[in-house]
Amino acid sequence: MRNPRFGRASLVMALTLIVALFIAACGDDDGDDGGGGEEGGGGGKIAFLLPESQTTRYESQDRPLFEAKVEELCPDCEILYQNADQDPANQQQQVEAAITEGVDVLVLDPVDSTSAGALANRAKQADIPVISYDRLILNGDLDYYVSFDSVEVGRQQGEALAQKLADDGNPEGPIIKINGDPKDNNAKLFDQGSDEALGDAGVEVAKEYDTPDWLPENAQRQMEQAITAVGKDRIKGVYAANDGTAGGAIAAMKGAGMNPAQVPVTGQDAELAAIQRIIAGEQYMTVYKPIKALAEAAAELAVAVANGEEPPEGLVNGEEDNGQEKVPTVFLETIAVTKDNVADTVVADGFWTAEDICTQRYQKACQDAGIE
Ligand code: BGC
Repeated sequence: MRNPRFGRASLVMALTLIVALFIAACGDDDGDDGGGGEEGGGGGKIAFLLPESQTTRYESQDRPLFEAKVEELCPDCEILYQNADQDPANQQQQVEAAITEGVDVLVLDPVDSTSAGALANRAKQADIPVISYDRLILNGDLDYYVSFDSVEVGRQQGEALAQKLADDGNPEGPIIKINGDPKDNNAKLFDQGSDEALGDAGVEVAKEYDTPDWLPENAQRQMEQAITAVGKDRIKGVYAANDGTAGGAIAAMKGAGMNPAQVPVTGQDAELAAIQRIIAGEQYMTVYKPIKALAEAAAELAVAVANGEEPPEGLVNGEEDNGQEKVPTVFLETIAVTKDNVADTVVADGFWTAEDICTQRYQKACQDAGIE
């Protein structure tokens, strides 16, 4: 016999279930499941946090290139972008705000590689995957790392400088070494790679400095001290870790009456001002890091992770030990650039156009370097 009470209860349960499913479906419409990603969805919130803005690459390349690739891969994704302006406390607040906001993935380029480990762990506790961007986050739980091989960048700088010193008849230097910000793990790796190359070549380092916050004015002050201590006629070359610090060192050399065309200076980032100095003979070399490839690889990882999917096959090509674990890593290649190959590298790649480089002041230098 049919039990009418049981029948009504079943109906109520079924209706409740339908309503619950309907609410759940609507609740997922914004593509945000409050952290941790979602299966096969088409949305998600991506926090993209960069470390500073005085080095030109971050605002003019990393940010727009990352945003454009996310927009292409996932038009419904939302990006929460912040720049810490070199302040670790700022960055901590920005990470905390992203966690509170319930982002689906955190892409973090740390100001301070060591203290960022705790930030990554806090995100992971909130079930938010973490991707370390360009600089490695040390001693934290990470999902991916995407970067250039920074030891190799240092080696390219050191080898180019050692070769130029030998060509100039000064194989033993001495040189001045201006490293990057000690809070940045990359700075240690650039130092390590360049020391290997310079040491192998038997180049003497007369004075060596770390550059707090990577600031060009700090590099300039340090170079002034080095010139006073070592003597402007003894210095045969300068290792500067990036183009900003190279600019500071060159300003100090000019201020002391040295001719930078006769004292090779290294750099990194292929900044427009550095490319112009290179073709004008004021800076010897830079390292070209194809930032488009970096930003796009990070965007591919971030979109996949935000949607609870695996990254595209073959993208991850290595692993990096961050002191806590081996992190699946995308490593990208870099190229040493001197006057001889500006045209075949940064110009051929569209990183800078001939119009960008060849302003009135540099027209003759552009012709000499075959840039048109
Ligand atoms: C980056 C360089 C940059 C430097 C200063 C490093 O971690 O790899 O490209 O010049 O930081 O921001």
